[in-house]
Amino acid sequence: MVFTHQLPLVPLPAAVVVHDGRMPVTATTRVHGSSPTIDILTAAAARRGVPSLAAAIPPEGTASEPAAGDIVLRVDPAVTASEGYRLSVGAHAEITGADEAGLFYGLQTLLQLLREDDAGWSIPHVEIEDAPRFTHRGVMLDVARHFFDVAEVKRFIDATSALKFNRLHLHLTDDQGWRLHIDSWPLLTERSSSTSAGGDPGGFYTKGDYREIVAHAASRHMVLIPEVDLPGHTHAVGVAYPELVEDPVLNDALVAQSESLGQPLPVAGETYLGWGVGHSSVRIREERTYDFVRDVVRELAEMTPGPYLHIGGDESLGTSQEDFDHFAARATQIVVDAGKIPVAWHEMGAAADIAGGTVGQYWGMKAPRGTHAAEAAHFVERGGALIMSAADATYLDMKYDENYPLGLTWAAVIDVRTAYEWEPTAVLDVPDAAILGTEAPLWSETTRTIDDVEHLVFPRAAAEAEIAWSPQHGEGREWSSFRERLGTLAPLWKAEGTRFHPAAEIPWSDR
Ligand code: ACM
Repeated sequence: MVFTHQLPLVPLPAAVVVHDGRMPVTATTRVHGSSPTIDILTAAAARRGVPSLAAAIPPEGTASEPAAGDIVLRVDPAVTASEGYRLSVGAHAEITGADEAGLFYGLQTLLQLLREDDAGWSIPHVEIEDAPRFTHRGVMLDVARHFFDVAEVKRFIDATSALKFNRLHLHLTDDQGWRLHIDSWPLLTERSSSTSAGGDPGGFYTKGDYREIVAHAASRHMVLIPEVDLPGHTHAVGVAYPELVEDPVLNDALVAQSESLGQPLPVAGETYLGWGVGHSSVRIREERTYDFVRDVVRELAEMTPGPYLHIGGDESLGTSQEDFDHFAARATQIVVDAGKIPVAWHEMGAAADIAGGTVGQYWGMKAPRGTHAAEAAHFVERGGALIMSAADATYLDMKYDENYPLGLTWAAVIDVRTAYEWEPTAVLDVPDAAILGTEAPLWSETTRTIDDVEHLVFPRAAAEAEIAWSPQHGEGREWSSFRERLGTLAPLWKAEGTRFHPAAEIPWSDR
């Protein structure tokens, strides 16, 4: 007898029945259907060493009956909830997506079940009915502290969408660099994109690059959420347009941190190479600032098909509360006027007049400190909702252990178990329905390459994927099962070239 929690699946599906037997996948296996997902299946199978699938697509328009060992892909909105799917494996395998996204997720489940043993490749006989717990299952990549090019971002999309993440938040601007070309303010990328933290090389996306990322994300059913961080984290804006920003405000923590890391302090108008925070702000009482915000938001909205536009709001430590609140109200309204739903870090919830419907992103601790919970709750009071990014659980840039070479420790040291064992609805005193879902951010101060990024993201992103997708309760939805199932992803990651930290907590399997 095989139990659900022994299947090599992450995230855990909503409902699974396992039957005896396995369906061999052989050179005679044919793939039926017309979805673009077929190409994703055949390419992934080829990378795994299942070459027969690559040539197994029947000619266009063929609706032949599946033979034993065949794989059928189809869409039927009646099958289950949005993004859900049914996977049935017996004599043949059939994935029925509620929509194309559901079909794509059903395919990811099938690819995890597809295993090689001494008898060859096969899939266990199962009946799975699955749909996500949360609509918002996000990851964030900071391309400002270190820049990652289009191919690298696509690789990140492929690896995270395979875990059923459906939101990619790109942190496009920060003190260290501005990474997206804006036609109406061309000096942003001309003057403020060539370096990264520590003086590493920088870069920026042309509008064509950005559209290419958006399209690739869409092909993997991920909605892109672009972030322009305002009013703080804007030193790079001042390198391009000094008239838009205040002089750096050097708080004690910044001075002490810079000294201990041997990093330079920010100097007005000069590229900033350290990673201290809280020293920069746009000029909040000058109308020119809002011309700038309006132009950037308009251009960003024009090239972003998704509904969200993130305008930052974190760590404006040198700005008075009154000025910050004034900016938060105006900036969120500018996003609404551009036809998008504003998203903001939870600090913007301090402003009484943030635009109604603004989505807050909570990045405080699992046990909220100070005013963080009240700030987050204010988004809900204003008709918005929340994305949960509890820093001591979801921050993928925290170290796995004190000695891990990459990452930081200011929020916590986060081993895989700590990343797994938290509950997004238990952090704040808001209705469960106000929680859109979760997001796991990767801040890139210490990650100089995409390989570094992946070593911090994997395997912990898989823990966040299960929290966001799987039912809160149920057979296998616990650490002892998760660590076993997680170990079975190793051969898939190796086949894809995805780097991961082989954490000692996890029993990694070979195949
Ligand atoms: C953040 O970590 N400053 C949102």
